[in-house]
Amino acid sequence: LYVVHIAAEMAPVAKVGGLGDVVTGLSKALQKRGHHVEIIVPKYDCMQYDRMLDLRALDAVVESYFDGRLYKNKVWVGTIDGLPVFFIEPLHPDKFFWRGQFYGEHDDFRRFSFFSRAALELLFQSGKRPDIIHCHDWQTAFVAPLYWDLYAPKGLDSARICFTCHNFEYQGTAPASELASCGLDVQELNRPDRMQDNSARDRVNPVKGAVVFSNIVTTVSPTYAQEVRTAEGGKGLHSTLNLHSKKFVGILNGVDTDEWNPATDAFLEVQYSFNDLQGKAENKRAIRRQLGLSSANASKPMVGCITRLVPQKGVHLIRHALYRTLELGGQFLLLGSSPVPHIQREFEGIAKQFQNHGDIRLILKYDESLSHRIFAASDMLIIPSIFEPCGLTQMIAMRYGSIPIARKTGGLNDSVFDVDDETIPFQFRNGYTFLNADEQSCKSASFCNFFNSQPEKGRSAKSAVKFLHWCKF
Ligand code: ADP
Ligand code: GLC
Repeated sequence: LYVVHIAAEMAPVAKVGGLGDVVTGLSKALQKRGHHVEIIVPKYDCMQYDRMLDLRALDAVVESYFDGRLYKNKVWVGTIDGLPVFFIEPLHPDKFFWRGQFYGEHDDFRRFSFFSRAALELLFQSGKRPDIIHCHDWQTAFVAPLYWDLYAPKGLDSARICFTCHNFEYQGTAPASELASCGLDVQELNRPDRMQDNSARDRVNPVKGAVVFSNIVTTVSPTYAQEVRTAEGGKGLHSTLNLHSKKFVGILNGVDTDEWNPATDAFLEVQYSFNDLQGKAENKRAIRRQLGLSSANASKPMVGCITRLVPQKGVHLIRHALYRTLELGGQFLLLGSSPVPHIQREFEGIAKQFQNHGDIRLILKYDESLSHRIFAASDMLIIPSIFEPCGLTQMIAMRYGSIPIARKTGGLNDSVFDVDDETIPFQFRNGYTFLNADEQSCKSASFCNFFNSQPEKGRSAKSAVKFLHWCKF
């Protein structure tokens, strides 16, 4: 099959979170199975060029419609990890992707509806006829109605549209009139059975539009697919998802096993594999040196947390876990940053409070290399999310022999199975889980026992057996 992904993120060039990882990882996995895969992303000014090969501008510009006229787009093509990638640079006075950040701009709706239209123009003006056009999240959700309204009637209807919603929290709603800019018909689409937001009649909802207009709609885990079909979890879209349930499915993400492999990871102090666990201890020593943590007691368990600091991720439980780890005699490393100013300030306060403490560090920024080093150095990784469509850090942790401690929600529920859960065959148990989003429940997760099991010397029998499963994962 010929598959084209249209997305706002792609690791490692333009990554904010798991969406970027999945767009690249899924594309590589499809390519390995013999499919022809291409990716279209915006050409942001803040992209990371390290792994990009042969980037060049195409001679032909692509013209796309916006605000009632045509604009030119420069198109760049390059190769990332063997994948052909097209970058769209709109020659529009608003400099849509020249803002020093990927998202969070006042005109995100305009930026990404422009991009969605331009991406379709790129496909059709260059004569490409994919079998599947796969769009992701609200930023490229416009592709589905645009395709069926404007391109299919011209005979360009050989593709089927797949829409993956990675997080129903973000739906990109806007005043209905804004839809006209990219050429969509506001009257036709601002209807309850089409793109009208379920809670405001004068607003349109791109995610709802993609659910209605795509041939297949996926989300990133089976449990989350069930949760979003309930009034509590659907963020206003549960009725729409129930109406379209026949084409809606939850498929658990995977991780890119080339990218996340401790045996080849160039960011690590020492590479290691499941039959060479000394390497993990070396990485722990190295990170203690790097971050100025105490190494007086080499066997102190180290708990890591690598996350965007947003309410979804259970920030109060992260704070709790940090104090609890100190209380239990462990070390804690938090790598995270927040787009929410008061959360960022709160964690900056905690970082300051502990700046000279030997057992805790908060590194409040995005840092790819440090994230790899923390996965490798930590004994456990905590993911106490309030909700979690899939979550990738628990899976990455398992690859690096770090035990996930997770709340049973969404994709965490589908991938982390408690060491003491007798309903699960022993060989599938791979972490510690807890149910309620409160401190008591978090405390009750049996990971606390880990602190008595001397991780460096010989973990408790159960842990040791399981440890081998993880490293083989
Ligand atoms: P989400 O997409 O909701 O943020 P995921 O668990 O799916 O959560 O994916 C998060 C991805 O982003 C992982 O690859 C994780 O390692 C990475 N990540 C999160 N925060 C940081 C950070 N501060 N620095 C580096 N990588 C980060
Ligand atoms: C979203 C979700 C996360 C998921 C990721 C990749 O960012 O919050 O749970 O793992 O997308 O699908």
